[in-house]
Amino acid sequence: MFFSDHHTKFTKRINAPLQAVLDVLRDPHAMMGLSPLIISVTVDPQDSTKYAVVDRLAMPFGTTRTISYGATIVVTDEGMEAESKAGAGTTTRSRYVARAISEGETEVEEEVHVNAFFLLLPFIKGVLASAHILSLDRLAAKVEGLNSCKRPAGYLYLYTLVLSLRKQMNTLLVLPTVLALVVVYWMAKRSSADPYGEFHLAFNKLPGEDAPRTEWLNMGYWKVPLALKLLRAAGCKPGGRVLDVGHGSGESLILLLTHPDVPRPAHLTGITSLESHYTRSQARVARLTQPVPVDLHAGDAIYRAGSRTHPLDPSSEQPKFDTILALDCAYHFKPRAEFLRQAYHRLNPGGSLALADICFAPGALETRWTRFVTTILGLMPAENMISTDEYVAQMREIGFRDVKLEDITEDVFPGFVSFLATRGVGWRIFSKAFTIFWGSGGRFVVVYGRVSA
Ligand SMILES: C[S@@+](CC[C@H](N)C(=O)[O-])C[C@H]1O[C@@H](n2cnc3c(N)ncnc32)[C@H](O)[C@@H]1O
Repeated sequence: MFFSDHHTKFTKRINAPLQAVLDVLRDPHAMMGLSPLIISVTVDPQDSTKYAVVDRLAMPFGTTRTISYGATIVVTDEGMEAESKAGAGTTTRSRYVARAISEGETEVEEEVHVNAFFLLLPFIKGVLASAHILSLDRLAAKVEGLNSCKRPAGYLYLYTLVLSLRKQMNTLLVLPTVLALVVVYWMAKRSSADPYGEFHLAFNKLPGEDAPRTEWLNMGYWKVPLALKLLRAAGCKPGGRVLDVGHGSGESLILLLTHPDVPRPAHLTGITSLESHYTRSQARVARLTQPVPVDLHAGDAIYRAGSRTHPLDPSSEQPKFDTILALDCAYHFKPRAEFLRQAYHRLNPGGSLALADICFAPGALETRWTRFVTTILGLMPAENMISTDEYVAQMREIGFRDVKLEDITEDVFPGFVSFLATRGVGWRIFSKAFTIFWGSGGRFVVVYGRVSA
């Protein structure tokens, strides 16, 4: 009764033919050789599927220790399956399946089941994700003939941490995590209610460039720009009236006005909270040579009595919108439910609302831990902490039709945390805290709803 299950999947596209990937996947020694921790692997002379494994773990204060555990590895037609039994009764089962996408491209899917002591599970879930992403990266680097993988050393630390916690509840190891959370909380408290500024400009700069070419300020979809993913979900039509909420310094506005794959609106309105972002967006849009009228506002996404010329003013005489977009921002709105209601009433019949947003896996909010971590990160007010199911129910209750919610966590958070971990100590601490948030049930979703025609 004190043990709980966790099930998750990771995928990696590798630029190599299926057979080259299978050759490594089906070679247990080669696979274990990818681990930065394993210092010794001995196959059981009686049973070639059983291995005695020894890890060397980095401990606090620069010390190391070794741990031994047993693993069973079975090679399958599609890849391999592994089971390990570590300390504190933690059992981990991984199933790797490789399939060809094209002649020179292969996708590896890893399905992981963990059964662990319930108090350890929230923490294990977060750091487990980092560890498995690291392994898949290293597999890709090996097969693609690269010398090293791109993930930062922080992953190794997290990996070490989770393995150590599996072995024993060592309070010394819990301390750095608690410390990271306290530092992040302190940073969040020091910043204004709106934590955004101009830091994203440096994040958008490519190596060797003096100035960034884009000004995205979101967590990224890491396949195509998150904004494109959102726009496709919104089903924008050419010639529509579009409202872009929380547009930051204006990259999504520019995408709407210039991207060849985006249906061009007939009128574009924007509202974002920071005055500096509003001014910057005005200037950037003014530089474009495009015929679409653009009407930008600085202010809260939610209309409050008395705020003049607000795009969501229910008594506005301006025409309503065909599409309202909220890209990676609605979780901040106080409260988001009010924004959803106001958006519904300012949409034309048949119009749609699309949000790239954060909510929680069903059941995740039943533990205080998830709420605690979310509060520490300063991500959203308490009233916006709802599950995926509650989100869909809330949209339907307001009146939206055809409500859809797509969970794209695995295409957003891994890329986001690994990117942040390369941006200096402060961001690395934030990425670790964010990994804990993700492991506690945080979900990144695209939500869609339509007003009946
Ligand atoms: C994560 S950034 C996303 C920016 C932009 N959508 C993008 O993808 O690059 C969140 C944005 O929402 C804005 N924001 C936060 N709270 C807001 C509010 N209550 N009303 C309007 N905008 C808000 C922030 O200033 C910031 O620009």
